[in-house]
Amino acid sequence: MRIFLAPMEGVVDHPMRRTLNAISSLPKGNAIDVCVTEFIRISDQPLPSRVFLRSCPELLGKDNYSVRVQLLGSNPEALALNARKAAQLGAPAIDLNFGCPAKTVNKNKGGACLLDETTLIYEIVSKVREAVPATTPVSVKIRLGYQERDSYLRNAEAIEKAGANELVVHARSKSDGYSPPAYWPCISEIKQHIKIPVIANGEVWSLDDYLLCRKQSGCADVMLGRGLLAKPDLALAIKAHINGYQHIPLNWRGIAQYLYQFFLETSELYPAKYTGNRLKQWLHYLQRNYPEAQKLFKEIKHSRERIYIQNRLQRDITNKAQ
Ligand SMILES: Cc1cc2nc3c(=O)[nH]c(=O)nc-3n(C[C@H](O)[C@H](O)[C@H](O)COP(=O)(O)O)c2cc1C
Repeated sequence: MRIFLAPMEGVVDHPMRRTLNAISSLPKGNAIDVCVTEFIRISDQPLPSRVFLRSCPELLGKDNYSVRVQLLGSNPEALALNARKAAQLGAPAIDLNFGCPAKTVNKNKGGACLLDETTLIYEIVSKVREAVPATTPVSVKIRLGYQERDSYLRNAEAIEKAGANELVVHARSKSDGYSPPAYWPCISEIKQHIKIPVIANGEVWSLDDYLLCRKQSGCADVMLGRGLLAKPDLALAIKAHINGYQHIPLNWRGIAQYLYQFFLETSELYPAKYTGNRLKQWLHYLQRNYPEAQKLFKEIKHSRERIYIQNRLQRDITNKAQ
């Protein structure tokens, strides 16, 4: 089975992918099998290489994991052109986003609103499939529908017919937003309807959630988003269970070491006025499982001072009680 790290715009950037992959590394390989960039919005023009490299610095080949490039838009020709460019730059696969619920994105005819336009989805996927080499997989990410959970079977069928290699299903409609539950049994219907691999996504926060999702969706492959941010060793825990070995949960001290490195990387990458923002955002997710994250957040929430935040993190790393 494979574990995908979900694309999350404004959250799962290069430092986050690096950190989560580092946490998930195994003696042989990595518990995270596939990563996807945040979406790159395509309007009518071919984008310059620097845009792809900014979203996906992994294309430079310095990281020990690879990342699919995700495109979002509604113009089949422009998407095809940019997909080809991403493939030429070394993208191991192209992912197409038909799930984004953001108002501005949908207003510009991108993301989830296309779920009501099966013919256009078909056209986009076929054009992109034709544009990239046969050796470059094209994956597609959908929700169950736009206003209602009503378009998933016809969209899945069109996506398969258009030549996509894989389908990721976020088991909610656009209107469902990000609120529980995720409708995993609908993924099972899709799975029975098409032959390409289907990856289940939505609301997997723990090993127990994964096992229930697997049972209800019929998918062994899973994509983890917020769950992996809230429990950074979740991929390790799932793989350990599947492969029958013991997993020792990562304690707060261990996590703090990764947070420290993550803080340094994000501080280098983003302007000084945003210092600490990415760390605080991550702490928001971590609070779900670690009371220490809440404590740390309270103590640094008003600070943009690099040294202060570093010292505070250092305290959690050296604190033997944790
Ligand atoms: C802040 C945020 C940003 C997201 N950005 C993207 C994105 O760029 N592309 C995409 O396909 N999905 C995006 N998603 C959706 C996630 O990939 C995923 O489908 C969703 O969070 C459900 O999975 P989860 O319950 O494991 O988090 C985003 C979700 C969130 C919460």
